[in-house]
Amino acid sequence: NKFSVAELMRGAVALNEQVVIKGWVRTRRTSKAGISFVAVHDGSCFDPIQVVVPDSLANYESDVVHLGAGCAVIATGTLVASEGQGQSVEIQASEIEVVGLVEEPDKYPIAKKRHTFEYLRSQAHLRPRTNAIGAITRVRNTLANTIHNYFYQRGYHWVNTPIITASDAEGAGELFRVSTLDLANLPRTDKGEIDYAQDFFGGESFLTVSGQLNVEAYCLAMSKVYTFGPTFRAENSNTSRHLAEFWMVEPEIAFADLDDDAALAEDFLKVCIRSVLEEREDDMAFFQQRVDKEVINRLSNVVDSGFVHMDYTDAIDILLKSGQQFEFPVQWGMDLASEHERFLAEQHVKGPVVIKNYPKDIKAFYMRLNDDEKTVAAMDVLVPGIGEIIGGSQREERLAQLDARFPDPETAEHLWWYRDLRRYGTVPHAGFGLGFERLINYVTGMENIRDAIPFPRTPGSAAF
Ligand code: 4AD
Ligand code: MG
Repeated sequence: NKFSVAELMRGAVALNEQVVIKGWVRTRRTSKAGISFVAVHDGSCFDPIQVVVPDSLANYESDVVHLGAGCAVIATGTLVASEGQGQSVEIQASEIEVVGLVEEPDKYPIAKKRHTFEYLRSQAHLRPRTNAIGAITRVRNTLANTIHNYFYQRGYHWVNTPIITASDAEGAGELFRVSTLDLANLPRTDKGEIDYAQDFFGGESFLTVSGQLNVEAYCLAMSKVYTFGPTFRAENSNTSRHLAEFWMVEPEIAFADLDDDAALAEDFLKVCIRSVLEEREDDMAFFQQRVDKEVINRLSNVVDSGFVHMDYTDAIDILLKSGQQFEFPVQWGMDLASEHERFLAEQHVKGPVVIKNYPKDIKAFYMRLNDDEKTVAAMDVLVPGIGEIIGGSQREERLAQLDARFPDPETAEHLWWYRDLRRYGTVPHAGFGLGFERLINYVTGMENIRDAIPFPRTPGSAAF
């Protein structure tokens, strides 16, 4: 009869049954009557379970009175209805085994009840024991599960694209180099350049910035595919929205255009949001109370209404006429900065907005050129609090147009296989990338993306 705290809380076990739970102490308090109330959590749900320990237990004085935050215990006892407020059941302990004590409890790094998120990042190995990081971890897990189920149920194939690659899929030059070469003794060519041909991979290789180019190959055979995995960007941006290592979900659909892509993005986001509202009610109540008073309301509205669509050109007009003082002045042809994106989503639309048809010069080479020859069939989904959460496009399926858009001849040569896909049975296709950690921040109301991933990688930080 070993159960998780969540199972006991949701009534999986009848009252007066004998149960055993294993977990970590969140708090212990004593009553005057010689009883300890020990709150034990095991990660399975937001609330800890209360274990009532009478001083008649043989190890009460030797062990139980020393229990405090962080100690590991196994508690055996009877499940009873709780008389206290805030919990429906508790365990009347007949035995409590101390498995791991906390050394020097007053120095336990997360002993205090409330810490700043910034401080907790310096304790990345212990922060999963806190309320907030526990809640984020469960929400992240629910979302990952929803994402795989969403695609599986709709006939998509999960394609595992490579982490190590030779191509810069976004052409943005934010690559982490992968090399087995001995740094102290780099092989040189006749010209004195580093000879990457002697590397283990027989040429330069990098960590992937996106699985898109590879997944396109599978799309043009399997029709509906997606990748979901880690991606890497060596952008030196110290913001609350950027990580050097983040997870991305990238669906790709064949015989599809930009409107199909936008419709998929909207349906997909709504299903993700709904699953968190339904399956993680306990954690969402916490985020609503402690992190963002509006979060549940906001998400409920999103699920119930259609996304606003807008052309880039109209978005520029709106920004120009907004009367706002932006740090970066607005003009047609510029990339939207975070302040512009947030104005559009937060002030103008007050909800998710899909911006379409961006100028070709600010977007990646693979996006399909529109008939105006000035814009490409790109779309970004912007949401309040975050800005860009999804970036996608219809892909250029015409070889001549693709060739004209490669940034340089080397890229075209390198991507001979990607060109091949336009030579052999090419079809219109489209896809997008969702930043998984941005989705987590969006649904929880959390502000910093470093709290949405277990061990954040940002410039200068990989300590854990
Ligand atoms: O807009 P991006 O760069 O698009 C792509 O990589 C395309 N290949 C996707 C596709 O069409 N298959 O990135 C997609 C999303 C962004 O909208 C953002 O949510 C997230 O990935 N993202 C980041 N998240 C955290 N840290 C970073 N440094 C990110 N860069 C992008
Ligand atoms: Mg983008």
